[in-house]
Amino acid sequence: MRNDVVRRGRLTGERSGEMMHFLSSMEADRHLADADVLVDIAHVMMLHKQRIIEPGTTKDLLSTLLRLYDDGIPESVFGEQFEDIHAGIESFLIEGSGEETGGRLHSGRSRNDEVAACLRIRIREDILRQLSILCRLRGVLLSLAADHQGTVMPGFTHFQHAQPTTLAHYLLSYEQAFSRDFERLMEAFPRVNRSPLGAAAFASTGFPVNREYTADLLGFDGVIGNTMDAVASRDFALEVLADLSLLMVTVSRLCEDLILWSSAFIRFVSLDDAFCSTSSIMPQKKNPDSAEIMRAKTGSVLGAFMTSAAIVKALPMSYNRDLQELTPSLIRGVQDAKHTTGLLADMLASASFDTGRMREEAGRGNATATDLADMLVRRFGFPFRTAHSIVGRAVQKGDLILANLDEAAIEITGSSLSSRGLSAPDIAASLDVDTSLQEKRATGGPAKVAVAAALEDRKKQLALDRDLLEKRKEQISASITALIREARRIAS
Ligand code: ARG
Repeated sequence: MRNDVVRRGRLTGERSGEMMHFLSSMEADRHLADADVLVDIAHVMMLHKQRIIEPGTTKDLLSTLLRLYDDGIPESVFGEQFEDIHAGIESFLIEGSGEETGGRLHSGRSRNDEVAACLRIRIREDILRQLSILCRLRGVLLSLAADHQGTVMPGFTHFQHAQPTTLAHYLLSYEQAFSRDFERLMEAFPRVNRSPLGAAAFASTGFPVNREYTADLLGFDGVIGNTMDAVASRDFALEVLADLSLLMVTVSRLCEDLILWSSAFIRFVSLDDAFCSTSSIMPQKKNPDSAEIMRAKTGSVLGAFMTSAAIVKALPMSYNRDLQELTPSLIRGVQDAKHTTGLLADMLASASFDTGRMREEAGRGNATATDLADMLVRRFGFPFRTAHSIVGRAVQKGDLILANLDEAAIEITGSSLSSRGLSAPDIAASLDVDTSLQEKRATGGPAKVAVAAALEDRKKQLALDRDLLEKRKEQISASITALIREARRIAS
């Protein structure tokens, strides 16, 4: 089909297939094509409203565009003889309706404001999808946490047994982290959702365009005022990729735990077979491959951010073709994050946790030594550092038994603990894992009451976030429905 209508005036000569492939953004533009049809429809409606084009032209243009909207874009529009989807669709209109009509589509605009609008429309949809998945992931974590309030397990620092906690407490920590990812993306949304249309190449246009009208038609929250900034900036994309990078860094940590917990050394979790692979040589193997790929996808998303930031860095004002090269990374980043987090939710929901193994390990490695030190402070009025030294010295000697504690206390304070009335049962009581847990009642701690309160809190927050998201989705889909309805009315 057709030649690139943009090129034919100024430039001559055939380009090699390799050159056209190199220059064309068509591959990545497949992800922008649906958005481009909407942008074209809104632009034509604005040209019509402002009487920049005749009613007959409007009808012709809108009917063709609505056909693309209803039936999809024919494959020929995606040919690499076009530099991009914008040129492809314009050529399609010119070929279909003739230049007298199709040639008027691009009045008062440039591909520079057009592509920025398409990217913003595409990315706002990706944000909404990502936010839905985050809500689902958080929901899975909350319901697992509700089931595991009584599942005692060791908590680690430096990957050494540190203090007892519960699986619920652990899962709530990730739910809380993912709620911040939700917050960040939600906050990015209004900065993404602004219209660059009407900026044209960068200097706007002498046609009496109505920027607010196209912004409104497309469900944008408003226009990007300065028209240079409108075409030149991609910080909206970098912000989303940065937010997704942070999200994925958290995902990678959770996956790392699941991978370690799957090993025979630890055996805290068994991932559903669907998420595992085996070995082509070692028939006994069940490997947590999905969690490993998820961990690796973090690198891809971080890479997408780095690539994109490096492309924008030091570009002179305003539009530069370099910006085209950002689109594939942006799309890759949002898709990797979306698939990873969605599958992570399913993987967690189907995992089985070995609660017996967790309990077995909960008290290992003197995990309640801090509780013993705290007890010495409360009972004998020692400064915490003194109690800490006594218990530490006793551990150096061996087990946390009265004889070792006495020896340690004499070395450090000059007198024994038994002489002050400390007995072996007192020690055993303060080293008890369940007692230790139930004392951690402060807000956000692992005690049953604290976890139950946190669960209630987090459920409420999730419900609020879901409402907020629904409102955003409805607002966008209502705008697009209204846009299409109005376009049909004008076209008929
Ligand atoms: N395909 C380009 C992009 O993705 C948009 C077109 C702008 N081209 C131009 N030569 N000004 O950024």
